[in-house]
Amino acid sequence: MREKLARWLERWVMTKAGEILGLGDGTRDTLLGLTVGGEGGTEEQRYRLAEALAAKVYPKYKFSELGRIFLEDEEFIALYRRAMDPDNWHSLDRKYTLYQIARAVSFLGGDAAECGVYKGGSALLLCLALREVGRTVHLFDSFEGLSAPETCDGSYWSEGALRVGEEKLRETLAPVDNYRIYRGWIPERFPDVTDIRFSFVHIDVDIYRPTLDSLSFFYDRMLSGGVILMDDYGFSSCPGAKLAADDFFSSRPERIVMLPTGQALVIKQ
Ligand SMILES: C[S@@+](CC[C@H](N)C(=O)[O-])C[C@H]1O[C@@H](n2cnc3c(N)ncnc32)[C@H](O)[C@@H]1O
Repeated sequence: MREKLARWLERWVMTKAGEILGLGDGTRDTLLGLTVGGEGGTEEQRYRLAEALAAKVYPKYKFSELGRIFLEDEEFIALYRRAMDPDNWHSLDRKYTLYQIARAVSFLGGDAAECGVYKGGSALLLCLALREVGRTVHLFDSFEGLSAPETCDGSYWSEGALRVGEEKLRETLAPVDNYRIYRGWIPERFPDVTDIRFSFVHIDVDIYRPTLDSLSFFYDRMLSGGVILMDDYGFSSCPGAKLAADDFFSSRPERIVMLPTGQALVIKQ
């Protein structure tokens, strides 16, 4: 009796929710099927339901087309899981973009570098991409979190944010060995790689000063056709990172390409 009442109540709540959200009959039925019956609806119906709900709750977000096959790449998703923050998939699309580009330019022959490594999610992907061509990935991080933000960085970040121990990075990188870790505040350890040339550099330090220092050092060491990928350029939380890139490239021939993932890239001439 109690179970029957609970089901009736759930159906009533969902019907009301569908009405309040102004969902069409079909979408509302899928909502009911999902919640009351468990696994209701086809994949397309469930996708359309999520799309309709998102359009009501957060209209600024525009759903993409159903059926993007990178979301079914189980091997890649398992790699992502090694270092992901619990309960969110926020950088899955950015990690995929990074991996694809690093692989695509690896034929140029240089090494890769990353400024801002954290738990090593992107570092692992770079190591796998570069391992195919026998090259090394150079990893720079304070392991003390962010350095002090400046006024141009806004208020989102604070000094010491994203602090994580080097042992966590080594754990993530256990499947690979083609990397070197340079512990210290950017740009202190850059002289260690002065004579190396790079096909791919990933800059992911969130704020102005280390972004500018990283661009200033690595730009001249990029091979022609190599890519600098900036993780933070298109995020409202990182105005300083965007400003650093805009300042730096204002006097250089390359154009910044902003991606819908929030990243931006530059192809070295
Ligand atoms: C967003 S996390 C990097 C995420 C990583 N690339 C990934 O995708 O998994 C930013 C990292 O930058 C590092 N960092 C920030 N400012 C730095 C600085 N001035 N010198 C060295 N490391 C810095 C932080 O310690 C942190 O690990």
